[in-house]
Amino acid sequence: MSAKLFDTFKLGDIQLNNRIVMAPLTRCRAINGNIPNSLMATYYGQRAGAGLIIAEGTSPSPNGLGYTNIPGIFNEEHAAKWKLSTEAVHQNGGSIFLQIMHTGRIAHVDNLPDGGQVVGASAIAQPGVVKTYSGERKAHPVPHAMNAEQVQACIDEYVKAAELSVQAGFDGVEIHCAHGYLPNQFINETANQREDNYGGSIENRCRFVLEIAERMCAAIGKEKVGIRISPFSYADNDIEEQTIIDTYLYLTQKLEALGLVYLHLSHMGEPTPAKFDLWQKIRSAYNGTLILCGDFTKESAEQALAENRCDLVAFGRDFIANPDLCERFENNWALTPRDKSQWYGNGAEGYTDYVNYVNS
Ligand SMILES: Cc1cc2nc3c(=O)[nH]c(=O)nc-3n(C[C@H](O)[C@H](O)[C@H](O)COP(=O)(O)O)c2cc1C
Repeated sequence: MSAKLFDTFKLGDIQLNNRIVMAPLTRCRAINGNIPNSLMATYYGQRAGAGLIIAEGTSPSPNGLGYTNIPGIFNEEHAAKWKLSTEAVHQNGGSIFLQIMHTGRIAHVDNLPDGGQVVGASAIAQPGVVKTYSGERKAHPVPHAMNAEQVQACIDEYVKAAELSVQAGFDGVEIHCAHGYLPNQFINETANQREDNYGGSIENRCRFVLEIAERMCAAIGKEKVGIRISPFSYADNDIEEQTIIDTYLYLTQKLEALGLVYLHLSHMGEPTPAKFDLWQKIRSAYNGTLILCGDFTKESAEQALAENRCDLVAFGRDFIANPDLCERFENNWALTPRDKSQWYGNGAEGYTDYVNYVNS
């Protein structure tokens, strides 16, 4: 029997109220030293109608705070303040995971706290620029290539972040292995030219993220650990198509063996046939829960579920302006249009001031 958007779903130990996921969205509102706050709790509480919220990319390390005002999850204060958000969502009947995002080389040292270091798999800079606290956009610096000891310390930071997330009341965590961030930097040969056992072959390039996943599962339980990948998005652009396919089919097979609670496939940019062909291959090869994200509408999401291409569908941009997105879908109400101007920063404006359809 094919699934529908408003069917419930059992994800590990929790029951989701529907098949709609709120995708992780960096909103740069952790304005006081990367500490989560009550404004963020209001925002997430407003969106608890989603079957699952995956809260924004959050750093497990001072070194991973590469963007302005993104939150952290590496000390007790972060955990205590994230509790405001998890409580707000749970009180409204929703479920919430936290995305663990280490920016790695997609960063600028001006954005890091004192003592922070821009790190990467190899000393190869990310092309392009990044906004800094002064408002100026600066070129990504050449990252410090982590040595063996630093790689292990970084994996430890991910594990600690997972433990703190559970302490904060999150139902689980999502490893951000997409869009060119640190685990993705290890996977991509364009960013990873290491000669130790974290570089070179596909097996070696996938080792960093697989060790993170394995150790997180041991620490908090595999039913609480999901992962996001984006085989054809961003930094992968210069890599040969067959390498991408081979790499991600290998990774998928290993993730399947670890038994993570879900695999989340993200697509951004050009919707090329190769991307969706690989999604199908992954769907066939992977028996666990699959989330798809990228350019979905209510109708195309319903179709993806009806055709059994996934178990859950995530929506990003439409959740920003439509806190009641699920209700709007259910009742075929119009959506508030997207407004990019407040996506990354400022306060309540363009963040918590979007109203529900019934109040509009
Ligand atoms: C403002 C903004 C912030 C984002 N932040 C993140 C993030 O923190 N982590 C992540 O994995 N993806 C992030 N994304 C990507 C979204 O999760 C999602 O994949 C993308 O918006 C495509 O889905 P959509 O077409 O439904 O919007 C962000 C996208 C936007 C527009």
